[in-house]
Amino acid sequence: MTVENEDDLHRLMRIGQICAQTLEHMLAQVEPGMTTAQLDAIGAAFLKRHGARSAPILAYRFPGHTCISLNDEAAHGIPGERVIRPGDVINIDVSAELEGFWADTGASALVPPVRPEHARLLDAARTARERAIGAARAGQPINAIGRAVETAAREAGFHVILELTGHGVGRHIHEPPTVYNFYLRRARQKLADGLVITVEPFLTPGAGRVMTAPDGWTLRTCDGAVAAQFEHTIVIDGDRPIIVTAA
Ligand code: CO
Ligand code: CO
Repeated sequence: MTVENEDDLHRLMRIGQICAQTLEHMLAQVEPGMTTAQLDAIGAAFLKRHGARSAPILAYRFPGHTCISLNDEAAHGIPGERVIRPGDVINIDVSAELEGFWADTGASALVPPVRPEHARLLDAARTARERAIGAARAGQPINAIGRAVETAAREAGFHVILELTGHGVGRHIHEPPTVYNFYLRRARQKLADGLVITVEPFLTPGAGRVMTAPDGWTLRTCDGAVAAQFEHTIVIDGDRPIIVTAA
């Protein structure tokens, strides 16, 4: 969507803050021995308490309130009886709707003991998101974002997962445009003030391809390498976007 006025922005910020707080709340509760279904229930209760509805359920009838992906699962992991273990790389993605406005955020975290190579991967993915935000300036082509992400990944020695992209958001969970995490020459649409998009680089030490698991939802890396993602919903605003899902 494009934010047209203060009221739009206010409503978008409200659901953005609920998503951000839900994510923070869930990340703080991650503990080895718990199942991903238990963690999802914590997120579900938090969303409900704030009057928000899970976007994956509302839009796609996804079998969970949030997406929880472990290790080689890059995205859309289904919360279930899988137990979180020491040394896991966990990704939690929270998207939700309130009064017709939608926001989307996500983060990866490490369950101790932390492996240095995993810490490097998360640092690189977080940096890639920062660079993406820095490139999201009004008047620039949208492929400036992909270029920034791809460069950040390469500099850190990782690859972006090509199939996974950012997207428009605001009045639905997935709207145009697609926000590629690599430089795509033809993605030359100009970023305009008020445009609401997500930036969500997915990085991996592997080749950067994913496939759908037999459950029909989970996206796993083809080579079994771990993946990390950090996501914010942003509004284009001159030289520096408004971060809707800032903690
Ligand atoms: Co998301
Ligand atoms: Co998203």
